[in-house]
Amino acid sequence: MKVGLLVGREVSFPEEFIKYVNNSNLGIEAEMVRVGGFKADELCKYKVIIDRISHEIPFYRCFLKTAALSGTVVINNPFWWSADDKFFGTALLERLGIAIPKSVLLPQKGYIKDISSESLRNLEHPLDWKGILEYTGLPAIMKPYDGGGWKHVYKIHSIEELLHYYDQTDTICMMLQEFINFDRYVRCYTIGRKNVLIMPYDPSKPYLQGQYFLDKNYLEPVLEKRIIADCIKLNEALGYDMNTAEFAIRDGIPYAIDFTNPAPDADKHSVGEENQRWLIQNLAELAAEYAKKPPKAHTELRWSEFLNPKMVAAR
Ligand SMILES: Nc1ncnc2c1ncn2[C@@H]1O[C@H](COP(=O)(O)OP(=O)(O)O)[C@@H](O)[C@H]1O
Ligand SMILES: [Mg+2]
Repeated sequence: MKVGLLVGREVSFPEEFIKYVNNSNLGIEAEMVRVGGFKADELCKYKVIIDRISHEIPFYRCFLKTAALSGTVVINNPFWWSADDKFFGTALLERLGIAIPKSVLLPQKGYIKDISSESLRNLEHPLDWKGILEYTGLPAIMKPYDGGGWKHVYKIHSIEELLHYYDQTDTICMMLQEFINFDRYVRCYTIGRKNVLIMPYDPSKPYLQGQYFLDKNYLEPVLEKRIIADCIKLNEALGYDMNTAEFAIRDGIPYAIDFTNPAPDADKHSVGEENQRWLIQNLAELAAEYAKKPPKAHTELRWSEFLNPKMVAAR
């Protein structure tokens, strides 16, 4: 049973993962996916594909959605990944009973060429900036409603600063969020919606320069338990099998900051060897489990009842 890896320029994770799987007794073989012109009636040869890059490459995203039609389990579900965003997720988590910073979705500042003021008659204008800031408080964080890689993340200290940065955001839709003045910060892998690894993390450090550190006593047991439960709950709700969630801890409460990272950092030079080993083992076991028995969450697609079961051919 073949498991394929779809990756970007990362090196250490795919190499180590393939080596680990192919030396294991898990009953699966791993290799890099190879794909070119993909036919609409083509059966994908992989039982499972682990996707680390389709958010950047539309061809891969569409190939993965189509592979799901022939029964390939894609980690992560490409349909949901295409649909989610940070702001919706934040609102969803609030309903799940997970602590979130107070957050407001902002109409975007700029629009594409053919949108004129007549096209925007549904929008309040001007915005009630004072009321918005009263809700989030200051300082606040303004960031894309669907961002990543720390791009366009601004810390705001006044209404003037807010308007100054907002005016530069052009067509990017932004959200404004209460700043959590944290004393601790963690990043957590959750694999298969059930196994959680909490990694102490210092976001003030630059990438590859000690952001992740090991400290077994970083969290008291009650807090650790709560974060694990939050991770499982949010990944069950979002339907992700490979994800990291970040929590900023203030007064003993973990606030979910960034929890839609469906291709999470996995480089041993960044996360460290021990954390990478945990990730590889857990992902390999999950891939083997899904290869043997595709989970309902991946087979009960909206159109699945209309499909001919023979289409999901034996590979
Ligand atoms: N509400 C917040 N309170 C405190 N810090 C925040 C908040 N939102 C973001 N940050 C800081 O900014 C960083 C980047 O924001 P994040 O939401 O993780 O964006 P990205 O998806 O680009 O990584 C976080 O790691 C955290 O350090
Ligand atoms: Mg982040």
